[in-house]
Amino acid sequence: MAYFFDEPSHTFSEYLLVPGYSSSECIPDKVSLKTPLVKYRKGEEEPKLTMNIPMVSAIMQSVSGERMATALAREGGVSFIYGSQSIENEAAMVARVKATKAGFVTSDSNISVDATLADVIAMKERTGHSTMAVTKDGTAKGKLVGIVTSRDYRVSRMDPATKITEFMTPFEKLIYAKDGCTLGEANDIIWEYKLNALPVIDSDQHLTGFVFRKDYESHKENPNELLDEHKRYVVGAGINTRDYEKRVPALVEAGADILCIDSSEGFSEWQRITLKWIREKYGDTVKVGAGNVVDAEGFRFLAEAGADFIKIGIGGGSICITREQKGIGRGQATATIEVAKARDEYFKETGIYIPICSDGGIVHDYHITLALAMGADFVMLGRYFSRFEESPTNKVTINGTYMKEYWGEGSARARNWQRYDLGGSGKLSFEEGVDSYVPYAGALKDNVDLTLSKVRHTMCNCGALSIPELQKNAKITLVSSTSIVEGGAHDVVVKDNKYDAKVN
Ligand code: IMP
Repeated sequence: MAYFFDEPSHTFSEYLLVPGYSSSECIPDKVSLKTPLVKYRKGEEEPKLTMNIPMVSAIMQSVSGERMATALAREGGVSFIYGSQSIENEAAMVARVKATKAGFVTSDSNISVDATLADVIAMKERTGHSTMAVTKDGTAKGKLVGIVTSRDYRVSRMDPATKITEFMTPFEKLIYAKDGCTLGEANDIIWEYKLNALPVIDSDQHLTGFVFRKDYESHKENPNELLDEHKRYVVGAGINTRDYEKRVPALVEAGADILCIDSSEGFSEWQRITLKWIREKYGDTVKVGAGNVVDAEGFRFLAEAGADFIKIGIGGGSICITREQKGIGRGQATATIEVAKARDEYFKETGIYIPICSDGGIVHDYHITLALAMGADFVMLGRYFSRFEESPTNKVTINGTYMKEYWGEGSARARNWQRYDLGGSGKLSFEEGVDSYVPYAGALKDNVDLTLSKVRHTMCNCGALSIPELQKNAKITLVSSTSIVEGGAHDVVVKDNKYDAKVN
């Protein structure tokens, strides 16, 4: 006989959080939204990748291009560049995101101690950087012997054959930081000595990098910025279970920090084979998420197959018609709650904590808080991000209102049939998504700030200063349909422009 779940499956709008005690210490400014992105031995080590906010953007053509990726990384989250494009295009997008910050790190601007003024001028023309590290062998990791900036020489007055050692600032006169110092410490030195560039060296005087004043300015505006160890934006990329042998190496080469198998239904041998191939080729150095699943069995399968994070959700996306077309899926809240329990059990058994991501169906900002309270470590959003200036779609005007286009990966427009691939010919003969408009909402930063302000306030109402505290202490209640009516404005005439009221 078929298996029947005891309870009907529910979605976020059917739940509310019941406040817990908030102490005077529990204020929104103190809330940390840091969250792990990849599995780790909790209690013994730190995760290799952590986000500063619990939001990632959906692996979709109409959502996650390179502009979205840098804008979201600036706020502390991660975009997954869409995989429904050629390998070359996807890798090029990833490479461009990684290059956005690369100009600040002088790996391109290192010059040998044997160089002359002519070499310095040529390098400045080539890289555009006016600050150069003079290293013994001219490499980015060579022994630092000095620094040259454009203030050290006058092209019109000096012989191009002048040795660099005659006009550089030699190491003995340099202010530098020791490898391992924090960005804050480095910035303190920059401020104290009024520097534009601060070299960082290891114990053998070898250069490990630079910290630039201009970087610091941008960091101050975006304190949550998510950067890799070379100060480049962190970015993810979607892959599929067909061409991974070619796509994964190209994305890794381009610098993707994390991959995710993009599939509407992840409880499949295809995902296991893909994960196995990645582990055999790269061990644990390449991080990869998998999904989507909606129950404990699906979670366990992908956990054992080696996924670094696991994505939850079938049929709940705003552009999704999977449930209507195929009758598969589960209410997003119920799926999240069950998978979170399975994740905790797996952790108890193995000591390995696998982050889970609730994907799709976030309509109101409070749905994010609910998903986290139910055990999700972060959420993936499509519709939410598609509304912003940074999404890679057209802005159109409909009846005088700005709109953006938003279409599903399973729509005829995206033609991402690999996402629905169950083997065989791999062709889907029907659509699982629609093409739509969403109201234009302006810049990502303004919207994310506001959304997360609400999340932080609600967390304080629940007495939680961090996501793990919320997951542990939240009190969650199902609501009746009548109480949902009570939750909106009711029994009043809401003022809008159509009333021309006169004061009597
Ligand atoms: P949203 O945030 O509610 O708009 O949902 C976004 C999520 O919907 C994505 O992250 C995908 O998991 C899912 N999705 C994307 N395209 C389609 C589609 O065409 N059909 C069904 N689900 C889709």
